[in-house]
Amino acid sequence: MTTPTKKAPQDLRSARWFAPDDLRSFGHRSRMMQLGYAEEEFRDKPIIGVLHTWSELNTCHSHFPERIKDVKRGVAQAGGFAVEMPALSVDESFTKPTSMLYRNMLAMEVEEMIRSHPLDGVVLMGGCDKTTPGLVMGATSAGVPMIFLPAGPMLRGNYAGKILGSGSDAWKYWDERRAGNISDQEWLGVQGGIARSAGTCMTMGTAATMMSITDAMGLTMSGASSIPAVDSNHQRMSAACGRRIVDMVWDDMTPDKIITDASVRNAAMVAMATGCSTNAVVHLIAMARRAGVALTLDDLDALGRNTPLIANVRPSGKDYLMEDFYYAGGLRALMKQMEARLDTSCITVTGKTLGENLEGAEVYNDDVIRPLGNPVYHEGSLAVLKGNLCPQGAVIKPAACDPKYYVHEGPALVFDSYPEMKAAVDDDTLDITPDHVMVLRNAGPLGGPGFPEWGMLPIPKALIKQGHRDMLRISDARMSGTSYGACVLHVSPESFAGGPLALLRTGDMIRLDLPKRRLDMLVDEIELESRRAALTPPKPRFERGYGYMFSKHVTQADEGCDFDFLQTDFGKTAGEPDI
Ligand code: FES
Ligand code: MG
Repeated sequence: MTTPTKKAPQDLRSARWFAPDDLRSFGHRSRMMQLGYAEEEFRDKPIIGVLHTWSELNTCHSHFPERIKDVKRGVAQAGGFAVEMPALSVDESFTKPTSMLYRNMLAMEVEEMIRSHPLDGVVLMGGCDKTTPGLVMGATSAGVPMIFLPAGPMLRGNYAGKILGSGSDAWKYWDERRAGNISDQEWLGVQGGIARSAGTCMTMGTAATMMSITDAMGLTMSGASSIPAVDSNHQRMSAACGRRIVDMVWDDMTPDKIITDASVRNAAMVAMATGCSTNAVVHLIAMARRAGVALTLDDLDALGRNTPLIANVRPSGKDYLMEDFYYAGGLRALMKQMEARLDTSCITVTGKTLGENLEGAEVYNDDVIRPLGNPVYHEGSLAVLKGNLCPQGAVIKPAACDPKYYVHEGPALVFDSYPEMKAAVDDDTLDITPDHVMVLRNAGPLGGPGFPEWGMLPIPKALIKQGHRDMLRISDARMSGTSYGACVLHVSPESFAGGPLALLRTGDMIRLDLPKRRLDMLVDEIELESRRAALTPPKPRFERGYGYMFSKHVTQADEGCDFDFLQTDFGKTAGEPDI
């Protein structure tokens, strides 16, 4: 590795705002003084934007006001000047129709906030599902040095001596409640115990997955993604981010030096080894492509086939949660375990290589972080399917479904909308067998709209009462990273865009062959052709505003659902503002 050349103060990006002896710069300096700062506090210093996604409705980021202070303390210690800048908070808990609709809005906001302001570097504070990819995508396109500060998982859930996992246990206890097996009292107890501290969902859901991916890609302080939100290590990590970003600015460590083919492959392999959320596929593709790395679904499938799942963390693992994962050594220990498979020469935000960061990392509990020879599942957590139902791909999480569905043939029961499906699953008299394949369509990026997490279709009451807890389900939706079951997701192209899923009819036979990575409807091509000819395109979901823009420009799941005009090969960037 070559030693980076240090920037001089006059080369700082912010110097263009503050240094010239002209009227505009006079204005900029006088406005900083309006805030109460003397010139020597901000002149010739890296200006660090602390871009955070806090809001009072983002329950996972409720510790951010304190952490912002820690970051600012670190920036000041290293001789920088920190400014707090709130960005769209995209909370997973309350955003309707789905937070995914707004990931790209956050990414656009972050890119433009950075480009239009006198920032030399940024600390990105996020963690609740979409905030991580949104922040990283935007800052990657803006191109200034950045470091990602992960919110960290919340503490384990607890009720009546039982450990509760985010999402997963909500679904599980809900099924039991629908089956009449738990009381109102118990249900209230679960409600009060399942989320009991600041921090993100503490299963290996989308939040923990995306924070881990960002860590593995070299964009966080090493191992930061596993630190529980309320642990004092999290405060010290936050201050360290502040100190480090100042040096990154002097060293001109821009994101393109960190997000490379090799670091993206590392991140994908680590994701597979952690039992990652299916959402990782969409976000990782989008993040990689912002850095010009053309990651595809096929690449991910190939990496998945060769990477054993070694994090025994729910929902893919059986027993543990993120807090246990941290105590077992966290992501650094997991990466150490698979070091031989990773490209350890990748440079990271610490200024060191991945290999240097992993020195001294150890596994403290090998039931939580398993050796490669004793994995939770012999392959990675995701598989990509192709076939006449999903020519551009679909994903499934084999480790989280009952193996009896790996090869399965059954008749389709097709629903065109969520309310239609919901009414059917709540109907005690629904005519359905465990061999049926439930299908929900019009639930993709355009059809949902916004690609909602509806893909873990509820098991019909009629089957639950007979004791069934899994069945094959297919949709063009996503599912929560905390979900589980034999759910085929992200069918591309989606039905709303005229994908073959739109041609399927109730009663058609469907065949899944996971070992062969195939998903097909057993309907002959002539019949499909006549159904295709009879299709009428649906009315667009939005007629104005952001949703209208989203509908015009969002790409399909296999391409990461980014906007077409934000991809690196679309047009030229306008460059820096001429000030
Ligand atoms: Fe924020 Fe799950 S709701 S991470
Ligand atoms: Mg989630």
